[in-house]
Amino acid sequence: MNTQDLIDTAHSIVAADKGLLAMDESNGTCNKRFAALGIPQDEETRRAYRELILTTPGLSKCISGVILYDETIRQQKEDGTPFLKVINDAGIIAGIKVDTGAKDMARYPGEKITEGLDGLRERLSEYSRMGARFCKWRAVIAIGNGTPNRGCIEANAQALARYAALCQEANLVPVVEPEVLMSGDHNLKRCSDTTEEVLRIVFEQLYSQRVMLEGMILKPNMVLPGLSCAEQESVDAVASATVQCLLRSVPAAVSGIAFLSGGQSAELASARLNMMNSMFKSQLPWALAFSFARAIQKPALEIWQGKKSHVSAAQEALYHRALCNQAARRGQYDAAMEAEYAEKNTSGDSEISRANTRIKL
Ligand code: G3H
Repeated sequence: MNTQDLIDTAHSIVAADKGLLAMDESNGTCNKRFAALGIPQDEETRRAYRELILTTPGLSKCISGVILYDETIRQQKEDGTPFLKVINDAGIIAGIKVDTGAKDMARYPGEKITEGLDGLRERLSEYSRMGARFCKWRAVIAIGNGTPNRGCIEANAQALARYAALCQEANLVPVVEPEVLMSGDHNLKRCSDTTEEVLRIVFEQLYSQRVMLEGMILKPNMVLPGLSCAEQESVDAVASATVQCLLRSVPAAVSGIAFLSGGQSAELASARLNMMNSMFKSQLPWALAFSFARAIQKPALEIWQGKKSHVSAAQEALYHRALCNQAARRGQYDAAMEAEYAEKNTSGDSEISRANTRIKL
């Protein structure tokens, strides 16, 4: 393990005002998102979509790294250029999701345990040879009636810590993602208490497994009321609750925090990240960045619809979201950015402008 390399890579991921673009949906998840929009669900269409993302003009101005999936890291552009070369040439850091998904946890009805530790050392060494410099593992914790149970949180935290230790052994920066899900009718306080408990247990396990905190990135959820909670809180309240929870549970040695979006709308994810940075940046020991999938990709996917003729409009939408999140890192995101983009893209009667109107950008 090269300590300095790990620290340098972790710092580069959250450097300045950039963040991560997660494009690591498993084939099943990617197909589900395609199916909802009537896009064909096959390997060539997934490849074409990932090419659209990676060739977005200007992407590297806002994006420090991309998280790939096993299928994607082996794919090429239509002209035969490997995606890894496109990523390296743009000065973007390549990462890879290495868990094999969340499965039902035995004896814990309704709760999940993330799998993928078997054979992980060998897979990490292959990805490292290919050029990946960081990895991601996601644990999912659902809030429900009587859940999560401590046994589920501990099992997931231990798997995250064992994964992180193996990554560091292979000189790969672990992105540690314990996601408390948004589904449910719980309030902000319940999400805050659960997130704090989960993070405390995750850091206990990271300590037991001797993970070097300076050489890792935490990818948490924001602290939010459940999607079906009657009381939806203001952007300020979410920002304050999230920062307070993180200050209580995340050691200052951690190199950076990069939030998942978790199904929030693209605009709210940017607004909430922006508020955290504008209110608290100067008081925090770590950078607050983004590692969004849906909150960056969704508008672009809705415009693309699998059509070649929509590629450049979809890339513009993707770039717009990347720019908004870059501004949110600086605490300079503004609703005017959305208005300006909408103004430019919703005039006329084309299929693309109708898609733009539908997604309310
Ligand atoms: O593991 C989940 C992704 O990396 C983040 O996805 O931003 O859509 O929640 P999301």
